Amino acid sequence: MNQPLADLSVATCSPAQLRALIESRRAVRRFTNEPVPEAVIRDCLELAVLAPNSCNLQPWSFQVIREPALLERLHPVCMGQHAARAPLIIAVLARPDTWRQACANVIDYWPEAEVPERIRHFYRKTAPFQYNQGWCGWRGLFKRQLVRLLGLRRALMRTPNSQAQMSLWAVKSTALAAENLMLAFQSHGYATCPMEGFDEVRLRRVLNLPRQAIPIMLLAVGKPGEKAVYNPRLRFPLEQHVEWL
Ligand SMILES: Cc1cc2nc3c(=O)[nH]c(=O)nc-3n(C[C@H](O)[C@H](O)[C@H](O)COP(=O)(O)O)c2cc1C
Repeated sequence: MNQPLADLSVATCSPAQLRALIESRRAVRRFTNEPVPEAVIRDCLELAVLAPNSCNLQPWSFQVIREPALLERLHPVCMGQHAARAPLIIAVLARPDTWRQACANVIDYWPEAEVPERIRHFYRKTAPFQYNQGWCGWRGLFKRQLVRLLGLRRALMRTPNSQAQMSLWAVKSTALAAENLMLAFQSHGYATCPMEGFDEVRLRRVLNLPRQAIPIMLLAVGKPGEKAVYNPRLRFPLEQHVEWL
């Protein structure tokens, strides 16, 4: 997966193919029992983590749940919804807590023999300053005052400077990975349903989630069953959401 430089001139997929893939994805609520092969899951996860992400710190993790007994326990956690009766559920977790290890990983896994000095500097100095909010957020508090002052004179990045902003920071990148994941399964002929309809307290207990992990969605995956899609596609007119400046 790690390549020094991609050839950006190669268009690997036509606009029509991409449109067909995106248009074919729907939230599917009924699945067959057919298992999803491990090779497919692996391929889709590899594509998920190719999503763009903040500072390449990859603040996400995934739990792949195939064990029937565990899936059975998840069903009531998802309040008995149909979509949770899938042969595979992937818990997509945002990880505001992994940035420190990720800074070290960037240097350890750098895909060239020499790690450029600007990269070392960024991940040893700049990124820790940006992401370390300190015990109980005290550094964040200090940084908020600092950016208020410095920001009077020049443009600068003002977040993340609190634990709440760290959560938002991690969720943004993780949501992009989740979309990649759904499209990757779609390309393999498997349907998905993203679910936020779950009891987070019970989910944390059942999956033994790390304390700071944020379960942004449970992704149900499988072959679509009978009456798999509940409603026709509905989107509001583009003009309601787009401003051309
Ligand atoms: C963050 C998120 C959470 C969702 N949670 C649920 C859910 O708990 N149960 C469900 O059946 N669908 C859920 N959905 C699916 C949406 O209802 C669905 O994407 C939307 O109605 C649009 O339909 P479409 O995806 O088929 O275009 C969720 C989607 C997202 C993005």
